[in-house]
Amino acid sequence: MSTLSMAEVPELEVPQHLLNRHTFLFGAATSAYQIEGRPEGREPCIWDAFCTQPGAIRDGSNGKDACQALAHWQEDFALIKQLGLDAYRFSISWPRVIDANGQLKADGLACYQQMLDDLQQAGIASDVTLYHWDLPLAMEQQGGWLNRDTAYRFADYAEKVSQALAGKVTRWCTLNEPWCSAHLGYETGVHAPGKKGRFQGQRAAHHLLLAHGLAAQAIRAADPGSQVGIVLNVTPCYAISEQRADMQASDNADMLHNHWYLSPLLEGKYPDGELAEQILTHVPMQKGDMTTIAQPLDFLGLNYYHPTRVAAAHQADREYQPMPVAADCHINAMGWECDAKGLKDILLQLHQRYVLPPVMITENGYADELKAEQGRVRDKRRSWYLQQHLQALAEAISSGVDVRGYFAWSLLDNFEWTEGFSKRFGLIYVDYATQQRIIKDSGLAYQQMLARRR
Ligand code: FCB
Repeated sequence: MSTLSMAEVPELEVPQHLLNRHTFLFGAATSAYQIEGRPEGREPCIWDAFCTQPGAIRDGSNGKDACQALAHWQEDFALIKQLGLDAYRFSISWPRVIDANGQLKADGLACYQQMLDDLQQAGIASDVTLYHWDLPLAMEQQGGWLNRDTAYRFADYAEKVSQALAGKVTRWCTLNEPWCSAHLGYETGVHAPGKKGRFQGQRAAHHLLLAHGLAAQAIRAADPGSQVGIVLNVTPCYAISEQRADMQASDNADMLHNHWYLSPLLEGKYPDGELAEQILTHVPMQKGDMTTIAQPLDFLGLNYYHPTRVAAAHQADREYQPMPVAADCHINAMGWECDAKGLKDILLQLHQRYVLPPVMITENGYADELKAEQGRVRDKRRSWYLQQHLQALAEAISSGVDVRGYFAWSLLDNFEWTEGFSKRFGLIYVDYATQQRIIKDSGLAYQQMLARRR
């Protein structure tokens, strides 16, 4: 643990109305495959297999050890308390709690039970994601998210787990970022399971949305005292010029990335228009699906990292690629443009277009490659990023968007998917060789901000 004195780190200056602990909560987030380790305690998942493919992960690493968070959870929870977080968002590993025959595994569930009891005793809210990308490999061998049956298997898992953990979880998030699971996993193939194919993204997306709707119903029945929502990654799309072709490309990108998910969930229908209609001829929809998908949501989780700049010239057919970034911006270690205004813009756009349930910013954060020096991580840029985004968030709230909370990604440095371990998002530094944790300067600034609240 860090012994740095409070006076040595820069303050996060955050608008007052975010600092009322009765109306706005602050937390930090992680996910199972990225931190847990201990793969011998579970069935294999699609990321175990994907990581063995040559070239799939930039540094050739995998999530076998990661932060060894299952071995170190008590230490990590002491840090959560030390930071003064109101809530902790983490995910349950589906292949750890359900065995090859689809039965609940008591030993796999036990650690999550202990964690949830510990949070409850400490008065810390729990935000539990059921699917943060770690599909059981056996299910992928049956077609994964291209197979409709996976949606029913997911609902069964959600039902069993929410029954077993009823009364312990504050908010359930069914899925994390289905656009990534569907599009990156089945269309471009850059994420697990690494499948490529035109329209496979939307086919997988339909089954993911269906899985969400079925699971939401199951959780409500099993754990009526909890709240149920889903987490989407949203990005404002900006055309790089006012030329018609660029504007059109940008509208298409917005439709495919944001509204392809939001419109079914909030309005029970896919987006309209020629492009949407063409795509929908490839989506295996059945009667009643849209009603199932559009379950009432207690909250909508939104993850925001960067805006998307779109040019027609970069669009291969209906496909789009994010443009290089704006000229004068700061770019993080992921190559992502840092633009806090994008957060405000997308929130206002969505607020104008939909009747939104209460929103939680379930992820937002900054990547660097900084290592600890003499027990300290001077990550000024992360504090800067957090401050900018909290400012923008406060402005969106002042303009009428009902946002109830903010989770920094991430509590800990962790396995950053295809980037492996080189990119660090944590408020807490992890030395992977020794598993030592050090609260970074940004984590201390977050801690101070939380301590100053009413
Ligand atoms: C999000 C993921 C999360 C993490 C951040 C950087 O898309 O949900 O697991 O990798 O990006």
